[in-house]
Amino acid sequence: MKASRIILTGASEGIGRALALELAARGTHLSLAARDRSRLETLAQECRALGAEAHVVPTDVTNPQDCERLVDETVAVFGGIDVFIHNAGITMWSRFDALGDLSILSRLMDVNYLAPARLTALALPHLKQSKGLLVAVASLAGLTGVPERSGYAASKHAMIGFFDSLRIELSGTGVDVSVIAPDFVVSEIHKRAIGADGKPLGTSPMMQSKIMTARDCAARIVRAIDRRERLVLMSTRGKLGRWLKLLAPSVIDRIAEKAIRQRH
Ligand SMILES: NC(=O)c1ccc[n+]([C@@H]2O[C@H](COP(=O)([O-])OP(=O)(O)OC[C@H]3O[C@@H](n4cnc5c(N)ncnc54)[C@H](OP(=O)(O)O)[C@@H]3O)[C@@H](O)[C@H]2O)c1
Repeated sequence: MKASRIILTGASEGIGRALALELAARGTHLSLAARDRSRLETLAQECRALGAEAHVVPTDVTNPQDCERLVDETVAVFGGIDVFIHNAGITMWSRFDALGDLSILSRLMDVNYLAPARLTALALPHLKQSKGLLVAVASLAGLTGVPERSGYAASKHAMIGFFDSLRIELSGTGVDVSVIAPDFVVSEIHKRAIGADGKPLGTSPMMQSKIMTARDCAARIVRAIDRRERLVLMSTRGKLGRWLKLLAPSVIDRIAEKAIRQRH
């Protein structure tokens, strides 16, 4: 992993920030992307202090010009790309029948699925050259339905469908694909979740003490990168859920419903 050239989207907060610090301690070359420049600059300094080379590229992943600049600048500064971590993401928190404005669904699709697809198209020639790795930070909601998250679950199902298909197409090129499906993780995403009125909730409805820390999640992702793992599930219910969905799908529905009702 040392000196690997890594693009990380969604680096300014939550899992992405923790991941940047975890990767920095391994002497990697990091291209840090998100919209908030000042948060990225502060993070870059912390990464350099840990031994990494860090380059900041303020990026809105839904903006095609920003995406081109992210890939071009990374290649210009580091000479190529070994790992592309698609981590930037947004979520929602509302029943579908309470949504005032269905454009929320497009926003979720743009950030969580179309942006990683666009960025992958731009980075793929470089990843083929380095026999590199694509990492898709998806969610358990990309593998099963979750109430109050219909648009988020749809976007993460799309993301996983895209990367699982691409893995087959890339067979023989040396490029691998890792799909990461975390359960709930402490981060900013819960208070930033888009509510029924189209605005962020503002406060997290989760009991943060009961869920995985961003640091633990980041450490697990780094292990997956080292091993070029195909799919990473981080919770017992996530692992059991794969089998239960086939054997007793209504049990999985009840577990998902309870998880949201309890709000941890
Ligand atoms: N936390 C969880 O419970 C959980 C569970 C499963 C999966 N995940 C997934 O993990 C990933 C990271 O989420 P998180 O929990 O760490 O969330 P977070 O704390 O809200 O961080 C999200 C990151 O994405 C960036 N971002 C959002 N919109 C962007 C855009 N249009 N362009 C560029 N960057 C953008 C944000 O930076 P700026 O605002 O500065 O742009 C921020 O750095 C997401 O894909 C999420 O779906 C999270």
